[in-house]
Amino acid sequence: MHVRSNLAIANDPLLLRRTLGLFATGVTVVTVAGTEPHGMTANSFTAVSLDPPLILVCVRRDTVMHDRLLSADAFGISVLAAHQEAVARHFANPRRPLGHRQFDPVDWFPGGFGGAPLLADAAALLECELWRTYDGGDHSIVVGRLVRFDREPDAEVLLFLNGRFRQLDREAAVDLTT
Ligand SMILES: Cc1cc2nc3c(=O)[nH]c(=O)nc-3n(C[C@H](O)[C@H](O)[C@H](O)COP(=O)(O)O)c2cc1C
Repeated sequence: MHVRSNLAIANDPLLLRRTLGLFATGVTVVTVAGTEPHGMTANSFTAVSLDPPLILVCVRRDTVMHDRLLSADAFGISVLAAHQEAVARHFANPRRPLGHRQFDPVDWFPGGFGGAPLLADAAALLECELWRTYDGGDHSIVVGRLVRFDREPDAEVLLFLNGRFRQLDREAAVDLTT
């Protein structure tokens, strides 16, 4: 048997990033409203609690989104569909325009709770009230209480694994829910 006792000390950022990148996630765009609305691609999104309904997202302290989100009362989460890789790349691009103009390339509408932009073609849409924030090292952990949500029942979702965007192979996927 291969004994894996020689684990690396967690002080090599590249190795750490590659290792943590083996945890597959979906991809979201977090949004806030206001005179300078803002959106940011995030895969740190996690469901936290059903009662009360809570989710979290981790936001790096040096992003534009960080201070906007921590000072917002509400925020939106658009869970990207499989065909939205370009959208994910756009909202991760530090050279995109700030404010309203960054939303020009996408189809969006203001959410009914708090008005954060929601991406019309997304697989799921969540509107959250900012509930708590926690210290997360070079990130802040932002917990939101889910107020309103919607989902596309048959949507395929965009995945992120090992530093690459991916889609599920429909043929190979096994549906364990039926
Ligand atoms: C797939 C993917 C997932 C990302 N997830 C996060 C995340 O969870 N938290 C974060 O702070 N940045 C994340 N980023 C990086 C931000 O999207 C990127 O730094 C962005 O330019 C920050 O925008 P801003 O500074 O304009 O707010 C991710 C990037 C990609 C491509």
